[in-house]
Amino acid sequence: MAGRPGPDLRVFPDLEALSRAVAEAAAKRINAVVEQRGRCSLLLSGGKTPTRLYELLAREYSGGIPWPDVHLFWGDERYVPATDSRSNFAMVRRALLDSGMIPPENVHPIPTEFSDPGEAARAYERELRQFFGRGWPAFDLVLLGLGIDGHTASLFPGAAELAESQRRVVPVRAPVEPSSRVTLTLAVLNRAALVYFLVAGADKAAALDRALTGPPDPAGCPAGAVRPECGTVVWWVDQSAALAWGRSATREVGKGR
Ligand code: 6PG
Repeated sequence: MAGRPGPDLRVFPDLEALSRAVAEAAAKRINAVVEQRGRCSLLLSGGKTPTRLYELLAREYSGGIPWPDVHLFWGDERYVPATDSRSNFAMVRRALLDSGMIPPENVHPIPTEFSDPGEAARAYERELRQFFGRGWPAFDLVLLGLGIDGHTASLFPGAAELAESQRRVVPVRAPVEPSSRVTLTLAVLNRAALVYFLVAGADKAAALDRALTGPPDPAGCPAGAVRPECGTVVWWVDQSAALAWGRSATREVGKGR
């Protein structure tokens, strides 16, 4: 009897090789979407892992990307001013936006200037509705990271917001600093057409195992619950995470999206 197909896992020797492979695949995907529909919605992740990818997109792959037709959104934001070095927007600004290739009107950061993060979440919902219309946002490409506790975006294990099925954006209290955050919900992430997880470092092995093994368990491992019914998830993993997880570091070629 044929079993359920395994996750689409692609293993690379190091973060540099992983970032280059993702940059290439992302550029291909963006071009295909723009050719088909005229514009592409790209959801960016925060954290440290995607920094090199963003630099590569800005420097080496930029010429091949139709930036005027690409709209950038954020999966989550630490609720700090955009000038704070911990801000996810600030990281993307330094790595990608400062290149000047992306029209400012295509950049849609999560606002952090309201005194109430709930107000910021509502403002971002309005921004999503303005772009996607009344239905649920269906991002063309979503980039996500994996926390050592299994979180993704700012959806942390055990959070009540994991069960949110109506709102697209919610304020949350994270168990790590900065604790006040705004995040897109699983309901949005699970409507994406294509999701790329970027995972690097041996300390991610246990979380990787929880995310990829067994049925989805949103409360225990939110990252593993990102499995869009009508979309594809690809795990781009470096060798140290994969080896520590105990799998072969042989590159497995997935579905090619
Ligand atoms: C954040 C994130 C978060 C991140 C993971 C992995 O704002 O912290 O969006 O979900 O992607 O924590 O972070 P690293 O890439 O730094 O390991």
